[in-house]
Amino acid sequence: MCGIVGYAGNVLMPSRRPLEVCLQGLERLEYRGYDSAGVALTAPGVDHVEMRKKAGRLSNLVADIEARPLSEATVAIGHTRWATNGVPNDVNAHPHSSRDGKVAIIHNGIIENASQLRLDLQAEGYRFVSSTDTEVAAKLLGKIVDAVIEETGGPNLFEAMRRMSRMLEGAFTILAVDCRQPGVVVGARHDSPLVVGLGEGENFLGSDVAAFVAYTKTAMEIDQDQAVQVSSDGVVVTDFDGNVVPDSVIYEVDWDASAAEKGGWDSFMDKEIHEEPAAVQNTLLGRLDANGDINLDEIRIDPQDLKAVDKIIVIGCGTASYAGLVAKYAIEHWVRIPVEVELAHEFRYRDPILTPRTLVVAISQSGETMDTLMALRHAREQGSKVLAICNTQGASIPRESDAVLYTHAGPEVAVASTKAFVAQITAAYILGLYLAQLKGAVFRDEISQTLNYLKDMPAKIQWILDTQTDTIKEAAAQLVNANTVLFLGRHVGYPVALEGALKLKEIAYTFTEGFAAGELKHGPIALVDEGEPVVFIVPPARGRNMLHAKVISGIEEVKARGAYIIAVAEENDKDVERYADVIFWRPEAPTLMSPLVDVVPLQLFAMDMAKMKGYDVDKPRNLAKSVTVE
Ligand code: F6R
Repeated sequence: MCGIVGYAGNVLMPSRRPLEVCLQGLERLEYRGYDSAGVALTAPGVDHVEMRKKAGRLSNLVADIEARPLSEATVAIGHTRWATNGVPNDVNAHPHSSRDGKVAIIHNGIIENASQLRLDLQAEGYRFVSSTDTEVAAKLLGKIVDAVIEETGGPNLFEAMRRMSRMLEGAFTILAVDCRQPGVVVGARHDSPLVVGLGEGENFLGSDVAAFVAYTKTAMEIDQDQAVQVSSDGVVVTDFDGNVVPDSVIYEVDWDASAAEKGGWDSFMDKEIHEEPAAVQNTLLGRLDANGDINLDEIRIDPQDLKAVDKIIVIGCGTASYAGLVAKYAIEHWVRIPVEVELAHEFRYRDPILTPRTLVVAISQSGETMDTLMALRHAREQGSKVLAICNTQGASIPRESDAVLYTHAGPEVAVASTKAFVAQITAAYILGLYLAQLKGAVFRDEISQTLNYLKDMPAKIQWILDTQTDTIKEAAAQLVNANTVLFLGRHVGYPVALEGALKLKEIAYTFTEGFAAGELKHGPIALVDEGEPVVFIVPPARGRNMLHAKVISGIEEVKARGAYIIAVAEENDKDVERYADVIFWRPEAPTLMSPLVDVVPLQLFAMDMAKMKGYDVDKPRNLAKSVTVE
C-alpha cells in the first residue's frame, strides 16, 4: 500500500540519474498502489526541492516528465499512491512540501493525529492545499527543520525527522529531502515497511527490495521506530531519540530483478500462475534431510516447545486465510490437535484464548499486512509463539515472529495472489507433517508417502496448465456477461471455492460468492435461477466417496433449477460428466493435496474473464498488493 523509493548518489559525480532510479523503482513498486505517482529531487545550489506529481498510473507521470523535463539531481524520492485520505488527484498525490518549498516528503500509512496537528499549524498561519495527512507532516517537518536551524545554526533533516516521528501517531514510513542538504535522504518508520539497499557510492531506500534490486541485492533492515539517513557513502540508523543503532541486520536478496519482470508474458498474473509448479517445488526444496525426515532447523523454535503445542491458530487475510483453511484440514488430520483459522483483523479484537502452548501461524505473502502484524503482536504479548509463513525475506511479519518458514514462490507482482497461495499451502503441509513427526502422531512411512505425493504435485499443476487452458478460455468467453457466479465446495474444496470466488470478484469485478456446498439448502439455493453459473469443486470419487456423492447431489439439485454447471473434477469422473455443462479436469491427487490443483483452473478462469472484459488483471481497481494500513 503506497510504494516508496529513495536514492542518494554521489554529489560530485553521480553514478546514475536519481530520477531514473526512482522511476524504475516506482515501476517495480506500482503493485503497491497506482492512484497517483510523484517524485521530488534536489541538487547542490538550488533554493527549493523540485517536485512533479500526477494522478493516475505511473505512465502519466513519466509522460509529464518527458514533456517538461526535470533538472539534474543528486538525491531523489518517489512515491506511488494508494489513497487513504484525500481522493486520488494531482494535488493529493505525493510528494508534499514544506511551506517554503525547501523540504519535500513522501509517506506510506495513516497519521492518526493529523487533524489536531493541522489545526495547530493552521492556528499558526499555515495554509494547506490538499486534504492529506501527508501535507500536515510536510508542513510540520519544515517547521521543525527551521527550529533546528535556529537552535544549531545549520540544517539537520535527520534530527528534524526524529523529532517529528516522536510527535506522530498512527502508521508511517516517511522519506524526506531538503535542498539545503542535497546529499542525503532521510527516513523513519513506525508500523510501516522500509528497507535500505546498500550500493557502492550510492544507497537506496524502498518499501521493499523490489525498489532497488535492479541495482543492488544487499539490503539492510530498518526496525520499528527507527530513523535512517542515507548518503552516497554512508547509512546511519538511529532510534527516534537519536541513539545510533550499530547492528542492523544486513542480508542478500535471494532473487534477482528479472524475477520481477514479465519476461514475455502479457501479464504478471499469467506468468505467476505458470510459475506455480516451481513455487511448490522450491518451497519443498531443502526441507528434507538425507533420511527423508523433515528438517526445519530454520524455524528456531525449540522442538520441545513445538512438541508441547496443544492448539494451533492460523491467522491471515484474504487468500492467505484460505490457505490457512486448507491447512486446518491437513494439520488436524495429521497432528490430531485442534486448528482454528481466523481472519487476522477479527482475531485481534475478540480477546482470543492464547496460552504458551498455543502456536499461532501467521500466513502472509507480503509479510507486511498490518492486520496480520497487529494480530501476531497480540498473540506474542499473550505468551504464545508465532510462526510466520511468508514469501518476503526480511519483511515485518517474519521479523517479528518467533520463527519463519519461507515460501519460495519468488516475487509476486500481480495484485491478485496466485502462486503464493499454492506455496503457502505447501509450507503449511510441511509444518503439519513436521509437527506430526515430532509428536509421533503419524507413522514415518506414512509421512514419507505423503511427502512423495507432495513432490508429485508440481507435475500435476503443470498438467492442468498444459491441457486445460483452451477449455477454461472457452468457459470464460461463454460466461463473460454473467452478473453473478456462485462457487461451492466441501471439505478442502470449500476454501478453494472461497478462493475461486475471490479471484473472480477482485479482477473481473463479477459479483461472486463462495459457499460450503452443504450450506446450499440452508439459503444460497434461493439464488439459483435459470442459467445461473455455479462452479463446483468436486472431490475425487476414490477414497472418501461419501464427500463425492454429497457434492454430486448438490450439483443435481441446482441443475434441476436450471443452473449452468462448471465443475472442477478429477479425470474420468463419470458422474460429473453426466451433469456438468463445462468441466475443468485435473489429474488424480490425494484429497488433502487436491487444493493445489483445483485452484489453478479457477485462477485461469478469473484471469481470462478479466482480460476479455478489458481489465488490467495485474492492477485491479481499488486494490493494492500490500495492505499496510488496518
Ligand atoms: C487476494 C489477495 C489478498 C491477500 C491478502 C493478504 O488475491 O491477494 O486477499 O491475500 O491481502 O495479503 P498477504 O498475504 O500479503 O498478507
